Amino acid sequence: MTLIKIIDFNVLGDERGSLISLEENKNIPFEIKRVYYIFATQKDIPRGFHAHKELKQLAVCIQGHCTILMDDGFTKESVVLDSPSQGLIIDVQQWHEMHDFSEDCILMVLASDYYNEDDYIRNYAEFMRETNVHS
Ligand code: TYD
Repeated sequence: MTLIKIIDFNVLGDERGSLISLEENKNIPFEIKRVYYIFATQKDIPRGFHAHKELKQLAVCIQGHCTILMDDGFTKESVVLDSPSQGLIIDVQQWHEMHDFSEDCILMVLASDYYNEDDYIRNYAEFMRETNVHS
């Protein structure tokens, strides 16, 4: 089973340009309570390095590109996000790291809940322990 779950969005468009619509519980498989975006990143400064206990997220690189490493405690897999028409599901208990940001990268993330630091697992050893408990 692949860790990389990509949703391909329907691109609406005409001679004026392209448009993508994201709707909770329709093309986004959860209730959207928060949207944040990461920008002005640097190529050599990775981000992420955590998992979430309950939060579901979907990441869309709406401009530029970056590489996301996904890790469920058993397998690691990387994916390049380089299209505004593709969303990567970051599910619960998935350690993720963002690497190799292009200079113009804008990474938008839809999240199923409000920001809550208590939902983060920021320690890899703790993540591995949690993964074994739940497997
Ligand atoms: P963090 O999730 O660690 O960023 P990344 O995963 O991209 O490395 O968040 C960076 C900081 O911003 C941290 O202090 C928490 C804060 N933050 C919020 O206040 N609200 C949010 O919605 C998010 C995602 C982060």
